[in-house]
Amino acid sequence: MGTGRYGGVTMSVSSGFPAGFLWGAATSAYQIEGSPLADGAGPSIWHGGVACDHYRCYPEDVRLMKALGLKAYRFSIAWGRLLPEGRGRVNPKGLEFYARLIDLLLEQGIQPLVTLYHWDLPAALDDQGGWLNPEIVRWFADYAEIAFRAFGDRVPMWATLNEPWVVVDAGYLHGTHAPGHRSVQEAARAARHMLCAHGAAVRVFRDVCRQRIGLVVNLEPQDPASDAPADHAAAARVDAYMNLQFLDPALRGEPPERLPELFGDAWVPFTPDELELIHQPLDFLGINYYKRGVARDDPKVLLVRSTPARPAGSVYTTNGWEVHPASFTRVLCWVKERYGDLPLYVTENGAAFDDPTPGAHGSIEDAPRVHYYRDHLLAAREAIRRGVNLRGYFAWSLLDNFEWGAGYTLRFGLYHVDYASQRRSPKASAHYYREVIGSRGSARRFPPPSG
Ligand code: FCB
Repeated sequence: MGTGRYGGVTMSVSSGFPAGFLWGAATSAYQIEGSPLADGAGPSIWHGGVACDHYRCYPEDVRLMKALGLKAYRFSIAWGRLLPEGRGRVNPKGLEFYARLIDLLLEQGIQPLVTLYHWDLPAALDDQGGWLNPEIVRWFADYAEIAFRAFGDRVPMWATLNEPWVVVDAGYLHGTHAPGHRSVQEAARAARHMLCAHGAAVRVFRDVCRQRIGLVVNLEPQDPASDAPADHAAAARVDAYMNLQFLDPALRGEPPERLPELFGDAWVPFTPDELELIHQPLDFLGINYYKRGVARDDPKVLLVRSTPARPAGSVYTTNGWEVHPASFTRVLCWVKERYGDLPLYVTENGAAFDDPTPGAHGSIEDAPRVHYYRDHLLAAREAIRRGVNLRGYFAWSLLDNFEWGAGYTLRFGLYHVDYASQRRSPKASAHYYREVIGSRGSARRFPPPSG
């Protein structure tokens, strides 16, 4: 990419990142693969169609990763490809697909980070209660064991669950994600089973695998919408529900103090055995960061009794997420303070903006996304400067893809995907990220702030 491309100032983003820093990009199975029932796979609780047809285009997608200079790629396994009914019978063709993908990545020098559960629960398990059935702890551990035994020799990093908070909040409390339930009781139950499933999978991992395993959570520092004590209390409630609910039991072996009061009648204390199961030593923590939260007290809202506020004067993404890089530094420092020096990876960070139509030479000048990446990489670097043990960063996402409840309307990709032709084209943010990865600290140009 020519240096005259942007009219901005010159500054280095990647200097200050430690040697061996793992530069990556992330996707998830259901959001990109398509072919949901191919080769004997069982249906999941999501219905998204062809997505990016990655199931068939994966060799091209690995070439795109190589072109970016990625050192690592985070993707997830579709549970239902390995076990069409979610348990019992294994589908060899499903194993073969991921084996081919993993081998190709390794051939290209790209390290795989595999997430076992990125929201695509097998429909057959949902029919039996899904995350509400305590049996799922064993179902998940059995599925995990099959994946560990098949790929454990070649996959150096594993994550059990992606963002259990979203599964619980969107899937079981507000019904905006599959399976679309709305119940405080169910939210509490699903959360307990997800935590136990995480612990059970880590236990199995230690028996069958010598690689590294962690958990991936989404974190949002919470600020009060005003100085009013009620808004401060609202921010503390959201913080407990969102940031502490999973991390405290997994990393400290106890639920956060405020949680029983929030869940009320739906709260059932953990047994000592459950807490021991959940509290497994982890090799790393994966943090997905997109935005901060601003909380306003609102007694009408289920459980947290708080409504998100939208401060004026901020920049927002297409889906209304406030761009707030300072909170990225803050959340990384907070994790170190509260949970100690566990190695951290940013397993997702990125933004949905409406991309301009391609220019004369097909270039897609997504300046707001370039800014987002630049500012968040600077924020990550600042956290490292303050002593945070941050070992890697995965951009979300490699490709535009199926964005859950928003379908195909939101584009988060470094590569644009034309869904009609399945053609992939690099956006300016892809060129930018490639320069960041490749520059290893030399000065880079970036565009002046938009708007
Ligand atoms: C995260 C999800 C990921 C994607 C991004 C935008 O919450 O883990 O699959 O949807 O948000």
